[in-house]
Amino acid sequence: MIGTAIDVKLPRLQGALPGPKAKEVIALDERHISPSYTRSYPLVAKRGQGAMIEDVDGNVFLDFAAGIAVVATGHCHPKVVEAIQRQAAELIHISGTDFYYPQMIELAEKLERVTPGKEPKRVFYTNSGTESVEAAIKLARYATGREKLIAFQGCFHGRTMGSLSLTASKAVQRKGFGSLLSGVFHIPYPNQYRCPFTGSSHACGDDVIAHLERVIFKKLVDPSDVAAIFVEPVQGEGGYLPAPPKFLRDLADICSRHGILLVADEVQSGMGRTGKWWASEHAGIEPDIICIAKGIASGMPLGAMVARASLMNWKPGAHASTFGGNPVCLAAALATMDLLEGGYIENARKVSERLKKRMQGWIGRYRTVGDVRGLGLMLGVEFVTDRESREPAHDLRDRIVERAFHKGLLVLGAGENTLRLCPPLLVDEEQVDFAAGALEESIAEVERAA
Ligand SMILES: Cc1ncc(COP(=O)(O)O)c(C=O)c1O
Repeated sequence: MIGTAIDVKLPRLQGALPGPKAKEVIALDERHISPSYTRSYPLVAKRGQGAMIEDVDGNVFLDFAAGIAVVATGHCHPKVVEAIQRQAAELIHISGTDFYYPQMIELAEKLERVTPGKEPKRVFYTNSGTESVEAAIKLARYATGREKLIAFQGCFHGRTMGSLSLTASKAVQRKGFGSLLSGVFHIPYPNQYRCPFTGSSHACGDDVIAHLERVIFKKLVDPSDVAAIFVEPVQGEGGYLPAPPKFLRDLADICSRHGILLVADEVQSGMGRTGKWWASEHAGIEPDIICIAKGIASGMPLGAMVARASLMNWKPGAHASTFGGNPVCLAAALATMDLLEGGYIENARKVSERLKKRMQGWIGRYRTVGDVRGLGLMLGVEFVTDRESREPAHDLRDRIVERAFHKGLLVLGAGENTLRLCPPLLVDEEQVDFAAGALEESIAEVERAA
């Protein structure tokens, strides 16, 4: 291993944060780097190992953010590092657009095997989540000959102009960028804590289905014009909201009845994060297209769009990418999938039960904890000013995130007022207990100060 190993599995802080070296980097960042990034607190990373991150001043943090749900196998897993190094020494790039290399097939076979559905599938490689979604938009239009698309309010599918047309997460993500794709319709997401129709807490999937059939299909767009419905089986950036399984099954039925493609955006919820390979599996649905990125290659930039082979009928030149599926990223992905299959998905399922149980105890004990939800290691806590009004408590959530950082725990927000926990899938019980304890202390302290 290059560099010194991080020799602790819980945080070790050296002094006030940010430290002197971190301050220097942040000052330079402010001068040189695009101000569009959204940093929640001043972490300046130097090295990572497992679930731990060391900053430039030698502080060590427990990482329950995982580079936005990316480093599924932890930071710099020796097997992933070895696969990258071996591949980099042999062939870094040749471009799958113009030439062949066996790793493209090796990973495709693995992805085909673990994605839902018995029909043969094909894989298109990308470099990111947004590109996987772009590819899905293009294939859906191409394969159906239809133009219209349906997505959900609160969804996040990426920031390039096509995927941004689907994204309906925060207005700031669209503001100032002019016209997006036309023919995109947004329907409410079945938020079980705040039903978009009644405002109350219940599995409101039936209301959404009724709205789709009675309002959207009757008044706005004929279903025969719709190419695809894009859904996150667990809405990620929107606030870690799992869709009710029955709702996903009903949606799949509607799609097959009208010849509409069901596209599952599993960019954040996929690759074992929810305790199964795909969040779609919790509902037993078989999407026509699955969009993948984030966890697939443990931090190397790789995405994939997996579709039924009979759908992927586009002609040479219709879609391609210079870098997508580059050999080094594919090597990282192959090692990642072995590790996930070799025990990390099972671990995610096991430790998440412990973590979620502990978090559920916060409802009732802390007046600002409105809801605790999620699947596997994709868990969210929604903060409210009080449980009766359920008024979103955005600033309070941010203060809790920041307080956790000062205790050595890295977490991120999701949506307006939810805090997400999406650690590497290898975290153990001790790390889960520490994270729960640090968060609970942070909630108590912030509530007391409020
Ligand atoms: C569900 C989902 N789709 C797409 C994206 C876009 O991925 P990327 O940032 O890699 O373009 C994200 C990113 O958070 C996501 O959560």
